[in-house]
Amino acid sequence: MAKENNNIVIFGASGDLAKRKLIPALYHLYANGMMPENFTILGVSRTDYSDDAFRDKLAAFLRENEKVDEAVLARFSQHLYYLPINPAESSEYSKLVTRLDELSDKHHTGNNNLYYLATPPSLYGVIPECLADHNLHDQSNGWKRLIVEKPFGYDTASAEELDKKLHRNFNEKQLYHIDHYLGKETVQNLLVFRFSNGMFEPLWNRNFIDYVEITGAEFLGVEGRGGYYDGSGAVRDMLQNHLLQVLGMVAMEPPAAIRSDSIRDEVTKVMQSFRPLSDDDLKNNLVLGQYTGSNVRGEKLLGYREEPGVAEDSRTETYIGLKMFVDTWRWNGVPFYVRTGKRLPTRVTEVVIHFKKTPHPVFGANAPENKLIIRIQPDEGILMSFGLKKPGAGFEAKEVSMEFHYQNLQEAQLLTAYERLLLDAVKGDSTLFARSDAVKACWEFVEPILRYKEDPDVLFGYAAGTWGPEKADALLKRDGREWRYPCKNLTNTEYCEL
Ligand SMILES: NC(=O)c1ccc[n+]([C@@H]2O[C@H](COP(=O)([O-])OP(=O)(O)OC[C@H]3O[C@@H](n4cnc5c(N)ncnc54)[C@H](OP(=O)(O)O)[C@@H]3O)[C@@H](O)[C@H]2O)c1
Repeated sequence: MAKENNNIVIFGASGDLAKRKLIPALYHLYANGMMPENFTILGVSRTDYSDDAFRDKLAAFLRENEKVDEAVLARFSQHLYYLPINPAESSEYSKLVTRLDELSDKHHTGNNNLYYLATPPSLYGVIPECLADHNLHDQSNGWKRLIVEKPFGYDTASAEELDKKLHRNFNEKQLYHIDHYLGKETVQNLLVFRFSNGMFEPLWNRNFIDYVEITGAEFLGVEGRGGYYDGSGAVRDMLQNHLLQVLGMVAMEPPAAIRSDSIRDEVTKVMQSFRPLSDDDLKNNLVLGQYTGSNVRGEKLLGYREEPGVAEDSRTETYIGLKMFVDTWRWNGVPFYVRTGKRLPTRVTEVVIHFKKTPHPVFGANAPENKLIIRIQPDEGILMSFGLKKPGAGFEAKEVSMEFHYQNLQEAQLLTAYERLLLDAVKGDSTLFARSDAVKACWEFVEPILRYKEDPDVLFGYAAGTWGPEKADALLKRDGREWRYPCKNLTNTEYCEL
């Protein structure tokens, strides 16, 4: 797919996401020669910057936080512009029309426009309507694409309402729902690893897999975003989007082709096959937690309710552990244990495939099981564990492993998630963006949890720096299984604690 000349319009350009993620990603793409020949980046928000003040602010941030080449930065800055308008006011968009016309003339960018919604979610439905009021959605003279940040809705009803609003003026092919997990090289590798190796695919089903674990652990707390997080919680912030997307890639059927719709069709089918959560599941297969203050090696970690912006009596969950099923021919009866939390001992995202034990335990019941660990971050890689004869007398089996670390791929130039996703949107490749039907299926799946968590008695405390509420361990122990407690390093298979 070609990278055509275009204008990138960032709504919410004075905000944190634009500064910390979007502009650095665009700078790196530019520095690596991956942007089209002619492009502009137009920041739009209410704060009153001139073009130069906007450039200076971003250049200062890049210098402080990224490796920059001053000459490249100077050239990059010449593509940056700013327009101070209120993006919620349709009447102000005539200024946007004029500015885009001027920039298109000056930079020969034509009328291909990529709109990035990096504003508060309350504007995700408003901005596209304002764009349409001024014909800025019209594709008769160039493509128009819209990237929508998370969160996409607050529950099923609000997501559907937003979806309807967007589809009034933009078609599905123009919509790019960003899920930055899908931009991660290691998440995409799930597809290649599964479908390029004849060795694993025959085993990738209920006959050989005992259970699957998916962990998205964060070491940090809410880090100054307490106000936002308190209205969201782990279910909306991590489960509904990122972890269920990863699960979709783990559980999908082979796509007919490596094409956006083939891949997204298969992922969506998985989401539509999640077994709906019954009252029994909510009571027995779900654990919700909230971190409390603790002291770790002399350092005081704040409890969630002590964090700035969080209500003193907040019942928002910062941890969720869930046992769930995918009701398909391939996965019938295989539990997927999914957990995510803030203030856990380390930051790690990984998938663990636990293979079934041999049918007859000739080396004893404690002989090692085969595990395949797919590490999404950090220390990105893959580890396969298996049994080996312990040297010496007798035939005792011992667990050993083989592993691959992405960092050993010297030739690889790993793009960050935002770099990859912005590049794909510029090229018009939506493979790594969530499709509306998939987003809807995930909301429908979590909807019973959203209702259940309103009950104040279902939340359990866990000390900051531990692996969540004790009840989460019981979720697996009850089934004769246990969570892996991953460490920062993939190969460290010991229990990881702070
Ligand atoms: N920050 C992240 O790492 C991150 C990660 C994932 C998703 N997101 C999502 O991305 C979006 C932006 O996040 P952010 O962290 O950049 O937020 P932010 O720092 O609060 O920035 C929000 C931007 O929207 C503008 N804005 C705020 N209120 C507005 C209003 N009432 N009317 C018009 N414009 C308004 C602000 O600019 P003016 O005040 O100048 O208009 C600012 O540029 C959010 O929806 C967030 O959920 C953020």
